[in-house]
Amino acid sequence: MSTREYEHAEVEVCPGGPLLVRGEQTVQTFDGDEYRTCGPLTALCRCGKSASAPLCDGTHKLLPPEKRP
Ligand code: FES
Repeated sequence: MSTREYEHAEVEVCPGGPLLVRGEQTVQTFDGDEYRTCGPLTALCRCGKSASAPLCDGTHKLLPPEKRP
């Protein structure tokens, strides 16, 4: 996953959870799909288990700690 406007992107890693992206950014997944973030804060899945990928849906909280990103 990458962000096109990375020079302006503010990204924070949530330990054991998602990437938190601030502001409007274009995110490209490994499949080449693009997703436009909106709103002040967007949580992007890092565990690969979200049913709402590329968004985090909280599923990472159900994983055992050793399986979390
Ligand atoms: S990081 Fe939250 S569902 Fe994957």
